[in-house]
Amino acid sequence: MSQQENTQSHDQCREDIAGRANVADSPELLAYYKELEKYRAGALWSIVNAIEPWQPKSASVPVLWRYRDLRDHVLKSADLVTPEEAGRRVVYLNNAEGPKFSTAVGLLYSGLQTMRPGESSSAHAHTASALRFIMEGSGAYSIVDGQKIPLEVNDFVLTPNGTWHEHGVDPEGSQCIWQDGLDMPLVNVLEAGFYKVHPDLRQAVTEPVDASVALWGAPALRPQNVGWDKPSSPLFRYQWAATYEALQQYARVSEGSPFDDILMYYTNPLTGGHVMPTLGASMQLLRPGFIGKAHRHTGSFIYQVVKGQGYSVIDGQRFDWQERDIFCVPSWAFHEHVNTSQTEDACLFCFGDLPVMQALQLYYEEALTDNDGHQPVGG
Ligand SMILES: [Fe+2]
Ligand SMILES: [Fe+2]
Repeated sequence: MSQQENTQSHDQCREDIAGRANVADSPELLAYYKELEKYRAGALWSIVNAIEPWQPKSASVPVLWRYRDLRDHVLKSADLVTPEEAGRRVVYLNNAEGPKFSTAVGLLYSGLQTMRPGESSSAHAHTASALRFIMEGSGAYSIVDGQKIPLEVNDFVLTPNGTWHEHGVDPEGSQCIWQDGLDMPLVNVLEAGFYKVHPDLRQAVTEPVDASVALWGAPALRPQNVGWDKPSSPLFRYQWAATYEALQQYARVSEGSPFDDILMYYTNPLTGGHVMPTLGASMQLLRPGFIGKAHRHTGSFIYQVVKGQGYSVIDGQRFDWQERDIFCVPSWAFHEHVNTSQTEDACLFCFGDLPVMQALQLYYEEALTDNDGHQPVGG
């Protein structure tokens, strides 16, 4: 029996297996359940098979959001509402089958935000952690805890939990679009969401521009006598040129992973760990003609195509992608990536809740062993 068939079989025969609930409804039992409901109680055997699955069963489905479908709508939002009216002028990604809290996949939120030259949002802080990946335009910036950070195309930028932050575009810039990623659905499920607006609506810039890059951006060098005691990375901006160069260097000396080819994690330079306690991110390079094998793991992941073209097979469905498309991989869904170009590399930015899975000892991973490691492709 294949790994994929095995999943279905577990569902079909679970009532027959010792230790699983197997109680047929009867008038007497139904009356009993109703009676318990009056006291805000219930019979565990009536729900246990649903709340204790044999293996992870995501409420989300694989989705590809094509940039050519969404881009005009994102730009149009600037004609319809101002940043002041909207708070945050964002088109969010909605996994139709996902749980509540408007998730893009699992317990991850994501959206596409646009700003025009001269616009800015008010400063705020929240317990959700946030990140952004810059897609197009020039002159964008964030101010995070008094530090102005330039946002350039393909930069990856952090807004850690609790920081005061605001965004804008300098008057001489052009209309910008970036992808936001937050752990907001997770924070809401944990019922730990706080949000506040800055009392002055704007922050004063109190730090040198891009100070985090100046202090912490040099590879393998640590500044003397500079303290940092927060759990998130002291480096707020990870620039594209250095990231791409690192991937190329890694590719030069490595065969890469059979699943991901050349993948590097964005890290906290002090610890080597994930950039934030609840959100991690990576950039991977698929060399020309790379055909990845399928694996699956716990955790939810959202990809943005930074460069190149190819496809991914996720849970048996093929999704063809090109630059700026976004797709998601739900927890425990088999996935495999292919670069269809024989001459150009492809790069995929990815963020997800891997730090949460690892910290809570919930991370599991396995390769597909059937069919030489490739999924049959369905609809
Ligand atoms: Fe925010
Ligand atoms: Fe993976």
